[in-house]
Amino acid sequence: MNTLILVLRLLHIVSGAFWVGSIVLAVLFIEPTAKAFGATGERFLAHALFRMRLLPILVVAATVAIGAGAAMYWIDSGGLRIEWITTPTGLGFTAGALAALAAYAIALIVLKPQFDRLATLLDKPPAGEVEAPSSQGRPEIDEARVRRWSLIQVSLLVFAIAAMATARYLP
Ligand code: HEM
Repeated sequence: MNTLILVLRLLHIVSGAFWVGSIVLAVLFIEPTAKAFGATGERFLAHALFRMRLLPILVVAATVAIGAGAAMYWIDSGGLRIEWITTPTGLGFTAGALAALAAYAIALIVLKPQFDRLATLLDKPPAGEVEAPSSQGRPEIDEARVRRWSLIQVSLLVFAIAAMATARYLP
C-alpha cells in the first residue's frame, strides 16, 4: 500500500502543480500579452497550444492529477466513508477536489470554443497577421465571457491547491 500511495502522490502532486502553474501563467500573463500583439499574438497562442502541444499535455496532466487524486480519496476515505469525509481534513480535501473538478469542467465545456477558434488559425497563412482578430469567417467569440471564465478557472485552481496543501493540518 505504501508503494501505491507513493506512486499516486508523486503522479498527483507533480501533474497537479504543473496544471495549476501553467493555467495561472497562461491566463494572467501569456494571454494578455498575446492579446496586446493582436492577430500575431493569436497565432503565437495557437502555435503554443497546438503545434507545441501545450493543450493536450495540459489535458493529460489534469486527467492524471484527477485520476490519482480520486484513487487516493477513495483509499483515504476508506471507500467514501462519511465519517472521514466530514472531518476537517476530509472536508478540506473534498472542497479542493470539487474546485479542481469544476475548473476542469470549465476548460472542457465553457472555454472549448475559444480553443477551437484558435486551432483554425494554424491553417491560415502568415498574411492573416494583418487581419482583425475576429474577422474572415472565423467563429465569433465573446472575449469578455472567455476572460471571466478563465479567471474563475484560475481562482478555483488556486483554491484547490491551497485546500489540498492545508487539509491535513486543519484543526
Ligand atoms: C488542482 C489540482 C490539484 C492539486 C494541485 C492538488 C494538490 C495536492 C497536494 C499538494 C497534496 C498533498 C497534501 C498533503 O499531503 O497534505 C494533495 C493530496 C491529495 N489530493 Fe490533491 N490536488 C489536486 C486535485 C485533486 C483532486 C481532483 C482530488 C480528488 C478527486 C484530490 C485528492 C487528493 C487526496 C485524497 C490527497 C491526499 C493524498 C494522501 O493521502 O497522501 N486532489 N493534493
